[in-house]
Amino acid sequence: MFDSGVGGLSVVKQLLGAFNSDIVYLGDTARLPYGTKSKDTVLKYSLQNAEFLSKFGVDAIVVACNTASSVAIDALRERFNLPVFGVIEPAARLAAGFKKVCVIGTTSTIQSNAYPKKIAKYSASCGVVQRPCPLFVPLVEEGWLDDEITYAVARRYLGDLNCEALILGCTHYPLLRGVIRDIMGDGVRLIDSGEALVEELKVRGLEGLFKGSGRLICYTTDSEEKFARLGSMFLGKQFNGVKLVDLG
Ligand code: DGL
Repeated sequence: MFDSGVGGLSVVKQLLGAFNSDIVYLGDTARLPYGTKSKDTVLKYSLQNAEFLSKFGVDAIVVACNTASSVAIDALRERFNLPVFGVIEPAARLAAGFKKVCVIGTTSTIQSNAYPKKIAKYSASCGVVQRPCPLFVPLVEEGWLDDEITYAVARRYLGDLNCEALILGCTHYPLLRGVIRDIMGDGVRLIDSGEALVEELKVRGLEGLFKGSGRLICYTTDSEEKFARLGSMFLGKQFNGVKLVDLG
């Protein structure tokens, strides 16, 4: 599994919880954020990340990053002779069951239109409104998950949205579930892309590919200490043994 940084550990948490998967995780912290970068740059980084992971003899590649999933999934499937899973399609399939859906994500994810395109594949009658929420990423990394500043930013981004379901289209947003729920109200279904991926794997009968003994090996392209410190917030527990890698 790879992500631009530590955020993808929110997806690791879901896979460990559901399948106790054995995971080699790469967090490309030296080059994050991906969410503000061009499609070509994110594509290039994604191919390099997958190249690194493919050397471990893995059974599948999971793109935990919404931004990378939204621009690189087809190229990854073409390049690697392995099953490649992203986080866009599963959330889009769930969202297509609603009439009015909002998608929030990084600027690059929203600009790619990946979610509306996939939702349209499953439903012709689902209305989709998108909203980039770039400030949510640094607020989460700052640990301000329940802070008045975060509430003010969330009100500004989401206050006028009106929908039945909201896709949390970024690795970091599940950590703001409480704030987002308070602004959107209890009647709005929040779709977490990691949860949606787990559901999709179950529906497709792919549990076997993901069952393991819960071993997690983490690689990072920048400080191991920072990765472990920030990452524990996303994984929901402390961990160590993070290794540094230079992708060249
Ligand atoms: N992991 C990214 C995503 O899910 C968020 C952080 C970044 O912009 O790199 O889109």
